[in-house]
Amino acid sequence: MSIHFDEKTGRLTLSTAHSCYQMKADEDGFLWHLYYGKSAGAQDFSYQYVRSDVGFSGQPYERKADRSFSLDTIPQEYPSFGVGDYRLSGLEVTNADGSRCADFRYVSHEIRPDKYTLPGLPSSYGEAETLVVTLREVASPLLLRLYYGVFEEADVITRAAEVVNEGEGTIVLDRVSSASLDLPFGKWDLVHFYGRHCMERQFGRAPIGHYITEISSGRGASSHQHNPFVILCDREANEDLGDCYGMMLAYSGNFEAKAERDQMDSVRLTMGVASKGFSWNLAPGESFFTPEAILCHAEGFTELSHRYHRFIRHNVTRGKWHLAHRPVLVNSWEAAYFDLEEERLVTLAKEAAELGIELFVLDDGWFQHRKDDNAGLGDWFCTPDRLPNGLSSLISRVRATGLAFGIWIEPEMVNEDSDLYRAHPDWVLSVPGRKPTVGRNQLVLDFSRKEVVDAIFEAIAKLIRENEISYIKWDMNRSLADVYSRVLPVEKQGEVGHRYVLGVYDLLNRLTSTFPDVLFEGCAGGGGRFDAGMLSYVPQIWCSDDSDAIPRLRIQHGTSFGYPVSTMGAHVSAVPNHQTGRTTPLDTRGVVAMSGAFGYELDLAKLSKAEKEEIREQVRTFKQDEELIHGGLYYRLNNPFHKEGYVAWEFVSEDRGKALVSLVVDVVQANTIPLHIRLKGLDPEAVYRIEEDEGKYTGAALMYGGYSFPRVLGDYPSVQLHLERV
Ligand code: DGJ
Repeated sequence: MSIHFDEKTGRLTLSTAHSCYQMKADEDGFLWHLYYGKSAGAQDFSYQYVRSDVGFSGQPYERKADRSFSLDTIPQEYPSFGVGDYRLSGLEVTNADGSRCADFRYVSHEIRPDKYTLPGLPSSYGEAETLVVTLREVASPLLLRLYYGVFEEADVITRAAEVVNEGEGTIVLDRVSSASLDLPFGKWDLVHFYGRHCMERQFGRAPIGHYITEISSGRGASSHQHNPFVILCDREANEDLGDCYGMMLAYSGNFEAKAERDQMDSVRLTMGVASKGFSWNLAPGESFFTPEAILCHAEGFTELSHRYHRFIRHNVTRGKWHLAHRPVLVNSWEAAYFDLEEERLVTLAKEAAELGIELFVLDDGWFQHRKDDNAGLGDWFCTPDRLPNGLSSLISRVRATGLAFGIWIEPEMVNEDSDLYRAHPDWVLSVPGRKPTVGRNQLVLDFSRKEVVDAIFEAIAKLIRENEISYIKWDMNRSLADVYSRVLPVEKQGEVGHRYVLGVYDLLNRLTSTFPDVLFEGCAGGGGRFDAGMLSYVPQIWCSDDSDAIPRLRIQHGTSFGYPVSTMGAHVSAVPNHQTGRTTPLDTRGVVAMSGAFGYELDLAKLSKAEKEEIREQVRTFKQDEELIHGGLYYRLNNPFHKEGYVAWEFVSEDRGKALVSLVVDVVQANTIPLHIRLKGLDPEAVYRIEEDEGKYTGAALMYGGYSFPRVLGDYPSVQLHLERV
């Protein structure tokens, strides 16, 4: 039993292998958050809250004689707006009478032996128990259900909320968080992952001050700029030490994470669908479900990442491919862009087959009128203007080389120059009387409408049914604007952003369940929608449109805090690199790309014999090490944002029998300081043989003493070390 209710005190304790979460409703039904952190036995944590006069903070009416109680100072499980808590709120509503306050009190709770699900939204799965706490608003006919999924072994607690209108008038939800977490004591930093197109998920860390810090997206997708994953960590925390609390939202649209340090130095973190541009009309009898927040407590960043990695691999991603060998692919984009000539593509496939590559991906450009990125989106069929012999000829010739065939789509978008748009100009998000904002000369389909999603499903399903397609790359290349649906009434326009995401999930769900054998990869102009929502449907996502191995070091490093490397699409591309103009050795490009869902994206026919030989060797190495890389424990050996001149990371098998250390030197110096690094995660008692230097070392020596890397020279050299327990 991971959920325990203490009848005497009303205390609810959620226990995972190494953490404990506690709450309690008091005699008036206020739901206190008592503790979240390292396991601490059956302790009742109420003792921590020493009462003093907080009269100036305000009291609920029935507590007017008790000036030591204020909603503004107690830690709460799910705070709401308008009744005396002036900090961040979880919930903000406009009641049927126009009042804007909500005061929820505990009614009951239920413990279920399995994991809850969320209608229309992705949610994690696996062995877990569910706690549902029901609260009722004191005056308005609203019910609030708080859901907790307790994954004991995985050390994860998931949360979501449901608001139910039991009345006869519409109630407007202005903000509904998935989770709120109060940390009453301590000094905390916020770790977040910021960036831009071609520079996603850069590591950011800042102290939480006496103001509200917001990490959010209003772009309709989780975005290149911010990621729906944040860590609250002890100000002293590092990879190995210090309390770390992760909060990750399984959601792919507008989100917000807000953190505030209040007058009493208590810190509150809330996370959920972004409130900017959002309002939801909850009609009588209706329910609104929030997306799921995935919470984890750990000691140090490494342990936190390990828990998230395992959880994403085993409890978020699903289907045939999530733990399976991922085919090494070659993608046509940086190899040919829109220059898709059948002979050229077949040559690429033949070259790839000879090097051990397993999957050919025909990227953008294959469908009607798509000679560049100004036309064609929406028409998911191939015409002779693009491939004179048709798609089927290309597919059968590619498959004859021994490679599987994959294809690119961008199902949420449409060009004005397309049959689809000409037939249904009202199917796009746009406001009557205004010219729509364009992005890459394309418009966004109104996925809040079922008939639009139905039509796209039919088109893509036909494409897959009529062709031997083993893989789909699902792209999304612009942010949403003019978020307005032609079919919803005025008062429901604030729902369009969220309804759009529900439409995306509906299509993902339908396609992945209708075609369970197809491997889907997510993409949004690179890594603009890299989140646990997408990962509930696709096991891998193209990590960034910057394929240069050097900036990739930082992108993949930042991504690794929350997401396992098996989810990060990473390819070896040509030099000079198309995004940066930089030239890096093939070896280094291989080392970086094989720390992900591995592939190639360059014209193989242009390579020398020696380069092809090297690629053959890379593919062989990846296949040999894939289990260790994708299924092992990932250790960041340093932080590329600290500019030490090198970046190193390590994979260790779960049984600690094998390890792979990768190092890339990004600033080479003359007369350099020795590159000496302490390895991690090894068995201290064991003796390991390093294949590359044929030496034998104890795990203790390598971890506590360290390893001196050979001096490497040249532009961006790299080293890999294979360790095996003897
Ligand atoms: C953006 C993606 O990230 C690229 O890999 C490529 O698929 C292009 N779109 C195609 O338009």
